Amino acid sequence: MGKYILALDQGTTSSRAILFDKEGKIVSKVQKEFRQIFPKPGWVEHDPMEIWSSQAGVAAEAVTKEGIQGEDVAAIGITNQRETCVVWNKRTGKPIYNAIVWQDKRTLEYCEQLKNDVKDRFIRERTGLIVDSYFSATKVKWILDNVDGAREMAESGDLAFGTIDTWLVYNFSKKRLHITDVTNASRTMLYNIHSLSWDKELLEIFDIPFSMLPEVRDSSEIYGHIESSLFASRIPISGIAGDQMAALFGQLCTRKGMVKNTYGTGCFMLMNIGEKPVLSGNNLLTSVAWKIGDEVAYALEGSIFIGGAVVQWLRDGLGIIKRSEDVEKLAASIENSGGVYFVPSFAGLGAPHWNQKAKGTILGLTRGSTDAHIARASLEAVAYQSMDIMKAMEADSGIKIGELRVDGGATVNDLLMQFQSDVLNTITVRPKITETTALGAAYLAGLAVGFWEDIEALEKIWIEDKKFDPATERTAIGEGIEGWYKAVKTVEHWTEL
Ligand code: G3P
Repeated sequence: MGKYILALDQGTTSSRAILFDKEGKIVSKVQKEFRQIFPKPGWVEHDPMEIWSSQAGVAAEAVTKEGIQGEDVAAIGITNQRETCVVWNKRTGKPIYNAIVWQDKRTLEYCEQLKNDVKDRFIRERTGLIVDSYFSATKVKWILDNVDGAREMAESGDLAFGTIDTWLVYNFSKKRLHITDVTNASRTMLYNIHSLSWDKELLEIFDIPFSMLPEVRDSSEIYGHIESSLFASRIPISGIAGDQMAALFGQLCTRKGMVKNTYGTGCFMLMNIGEKPVLSGNNLLTSVAWKIGDEVAYALEGSIFIGGAVVQWLRDGLGIIKRSEDVEKLAASIENSGGVYFVPSFAGLGAPHWNQKAKGTILGLTRGSTDAHIARASLEAVAYQSMDIMKAMEADSGIKIGELRVDGGATVNDLLMQFQSDVLNTITVRPKITETTALGAAYLAGLAVGFWEDIEALEKIWIEDKKFDPATERTAIGEGIEGWYKAVKTVEHWTEL
């Protein structure tokens, strides 16, 4: 058995490959950015061939760079940007259009129509998702309706559809495998999360032929092997999960009620809700967290559009810091935000508010307010928004959350992590390895080939870096939270004027 597991993390802006050893430590890491294509306002595409070549390139480099042989790699796990879809010709293996990215809004109007047709309730019950251009279904439909000859080819069974995991596995296996896993399937809006199968009625609504769809497999099993000439040996591919679900697994949130939050450009919070899907009453999404053997776990998910992006704005838009990491020092130069609130709804408000018209707003300025107050209010806003989602999750699941596990770039910021713990009144835990998305894919792949025996074995190697306990003096924190609620209400009221 090889000594390493290779995790491939195909994200929205870069393809990454990380090699882990048996202790779950990073041995090698390579990353390559690729082109973002914006053909029209609101449209976002990627070149599928570039996704494939960049991912294959970093995979090979991560292994060879350390002088490691292919045979030393026990298995490969794949994790990916979710919802983004590719449609290709089964005969040639060539895409018939660029990949339409999850951020793409070209089908917004069609989604509005669907809502007016009152299809949203039906779709929601079957898929756990809110009708939105975010998910794959309307993007696939768009390709079939708009690319010359696509509909005819699809009807005659010549086209294949896949999310990015599917596209990568198809290429790595030299076109032998047309598969996806349950987590990715559950983000297409075509998958029934109760019966765990493609839903015929949904396929009818979106007019998508069944013959295009990949076979849905577990998140941890040997699907096949790398057949391309990238490595001298045939390495098994044995783990697949969408990136946020992989991060939930990488944080070992394997028991009901465990929650992780990833702080990136936006933030993605997921809660393991156990073996039964719970539909949200607060506009959160329900998806499959993973399926391993006969065990299925579901997750509630809420996302914040502007997380770390608010710090980028302080740097690039407002120019009050030179580098993103300077925000912590500036924010820490004062005791508190002095009544200044920043609602960074540059792209509307996400869960649980869902207000598309909301605009970014700073409230509570006085003559004494400085750049430090704005910096501090920005960090606080990331924590408050996460708190809003966590409260919604508690309400939906009926579970009181005891601990939040965090990962992503902004988690190095101790001030933010402490504040997060304070407003949640919950312990916040930062692990040693914060590359939890890749780690989750590695865990899933490693379990399938016996590299790690079971989840208990993973628990032994998962190491905490720092724990942030919530402040015991709650009065000022409670007042701060009240102020945040008022600030959000004010922003929402402004959109109605
Ligand atoms: O749902 C979209 C998400 O999977 C994208 O994640 O990390 O590639 O921005 P990321």
